[in-house]
Amino acid sequence: MESIRHFLSLDDFSLAELNHVIAHAIGLKASTKRGHYATPLKHKTLAMIFEKASTRTRVSFEAGMTQLGGHAMFLAPQDTQLGRGEPIEDSARVISRMVDVVMIRTFEQAKVELFAAHSRVPVINALTDDYHPCQLLADLMTWREQRGSPQGKTAAWIGDGNNMCHSWMDAARIFDFHLNISCPQGYMPRADIIARNQAFVTVCSSPAEAIKDVDVVVTDTWASMGQEHEKKAREVAFADYQITDELMALAHQDAIFMHCLPAYRGYEVAASVIDGPQSVVWDEAENRLHAQKALLEVLVCGFPAVLSAP
Ligand code: CP
Ligand code: NVA
Repeated sequence: MESIRHFLSLDDFSLAELNHVIAHAIGLKASTKRGHYATPLKHKTLAMIFEKASTRTRVSFEAGMTQLGGHAMFLAPQDTQLGRGEPIEDSARVISRMVDVVMIRTFEQAKVELFAAHSRVPVINALTDDYHPCQLLADLMTWREQRGSPQGKTAAWIGDGNNMCHSWMDAARIFDFHLNISCPQGYMPRADIIARNQAFVTVCSSPAEAIKDVDVVVTDTWASMGQEHEKKAREVAFADYQITDELMALAHQDAIFMHCLPAYRGYEVAASVIDGPQSVVWDEAENRLHAQKALLEVLVCGFPAVLSAP
């Protein structure tokens, strides 16, 4: 029996597979704009388990399944037995006998891994405290659409060393670009994730150093979901890390600004930057839909044979 493919971090796919997903997403986007919807997931169901809030992820997965001819089912912990302590292993065994693919947004990465280990169907990480690989599919797709291949280019991550930063560091290694990071002391990314990506990551001593001459500038909220109680302390620690027009002026003239959203204007980014001409955040958000449609299709229907050849 072929082993089930999951998408729990970017490293679950090869570079060729990731590039296929992105290229397919760009094709799906073009055909959707022409009003053409292929329906390879007819009669298929996606279970969406959300233990954290979401706008983009829920809407893009749910609309994506509709467009692919299938159905998406929203499962909140308070309405399921998961929220009353049914073991994850048992939930995985049961849910995966009834649906064709599962998407989970939760806190611990170990939870999605445990679910996947007991699932009969593919499992997608839709954000954990450690990674947000679906967002990176959309981000890399957006970068490619806007400026071509990321290979050999440089991006800057400025702000919190969080789940998004971890996935961006992995992306730098996999897609062969360089990532400068600048985070306040005490808010650095995980040391083991820096270590495994070390040839592709430079830890800089200031936002100005990190952003100098880069092609892409990325940031995220200073307080991720689950860190709401740290908000005040974080606002103090991150005060010098806002992406302002002055900082953007140090990047390449044609640099793009990205943010996974939701964004907090006046905190991690100035309104003039996120609403300005270098910002691609709305395309980036829309691309969640196209990238995840491509992801769902390869997980449920398989990659083209040419990619599976040894
Ligand atoms: N970027 C992102 O994942 O947004 P949501 O939290 O709204 O899903
Ligand atoms: N780092 C943020 C991303 C939200 C999409 C969080 O985890 O809340």
